[in-house]
Amino acid sequence: MWLKLLISIHLMFGALFALTPNVSSVKDNSANSNGLSAYSESCPDYFRNDVRVPCYFLLEKCYCFSTQLFLMTWNDAKYYCRLSNYTLISIETKIEDDVIHQHINNTEGLLEQPWFWTSGSYSEDQWKWSTGPYPGQPFNYSNWASTRPVYNLDGYCTEINYSTFQGGWADFPCDFTNFFICEGNVTLPV
Ligand SMILES: *[C@@H]1O[C@H](CO)[C@@H](O)[C@H](O)[C@H]1NC(C)=O
Ligand SMILES: *[C@@H]1O[C@H](CO)[C@@H](O)[C@H](O)[C@H]1NC(C)=O
Ligand SMILES: *[C@@H]1O[C@H](CO)[C@@H](O)[C@H](O)[C@H]1NC(C)=O
Ligand SMILES: *[C@@H]1O[C@H](CO)[C@@H](O)[C@H](O)[C@H]1NC(C)=O
Ligand SMILES: *[C@@H]1O[C@H](CO)[C@@H](O)[C@H](O)[C@H]1NC(C)=O
Ligand SMILES: *[C@@H]1O[C@H](CO)[C@@H](O)[C@H](O)[C@H]1NC(C)=O
Repeated sequence: MWLKLLISIHLMFGALFALTPNVSSVKDNSANSNGLSAYSESCPDYFRNDVRVPCYFLLEKCYCFSTQLFLMTWNDAKYYCRLSNYTLISIETKIEDDVIHQHINNTEGLLEQPWFWTSGSYSEDQWKWSTGPYPGQPFNYSNWASTRPVYNLDGYCTEINYSTFQGGWADFPCDFTNFFICEGNVTLPV
């Protein structure tokens, strides 16, 4: 709990850095050994030109990861991604899950950010992807941590949790602030 509180405090200061684009030291991912996370010119360097949210081409889409203590509630993160016609990440296959997991594992700094929102949320008695290629559809693939989900209730959303679950999924109140991942098509409209 104390960690989250600390982070919330940092977040307020983090906002001061929001208007400093073109700091390119955040990301240098051009030579990952697995070859899966090679940076592509097709992705924007940063989502919405925000240096806190570097983007990477993985598989066939751009994935943009919030960094630098840029945390949001699930709803706010969903809205933020949508501002550029991206969506909060939906993980439909084990392949996609593995690629994201490897990317986080192999990218400096990301693994130290233990929780990321996905677009998963509980509604109408099911866990569903709320946005993305299959909006409103229940999970086919899932990677819940063995003891999760606990709260099958409206108001709970799906996070990737590294602090306890090594990348397994956990249910967490949607109004908590987490890191998040936006996914979208290769070209980000200006
Ligand atoms: C960011 O970099 C681009 C390309 O190098 C440049 O055209 C633009 O003016 C820079 N923006 C700022 C705010 O420095
Ligand atoms: C998102 O898509 C809508 C509908 O196609 C379009 O009107 C809007 O300009 C797009 N927004 C951005 C930021 O590209
Ligand atoms: C990405 O492109 C596909 C194919 O054009 C389209 O169906 C889909 O809606 C696009 N996704 C987003 C988030 O814009
Ligand atoms: C994560 O990274 C460590 C060291 O960089 C490596 O040994 C391990 O195999 C990686 N795990 C995955 C799932 O990529
Ligand atoms: C789940 O699988 C069904 C049947 O193949 C498919 O129609 C549906 O789009 C899939 N949903 C998701 C979220 O992947
Ligand atoms: C990750 O999961 C653990 C175990 O349930 C939980 O205590 C922790 O709060 C989770 N982290 C976040 C940020 O939700």
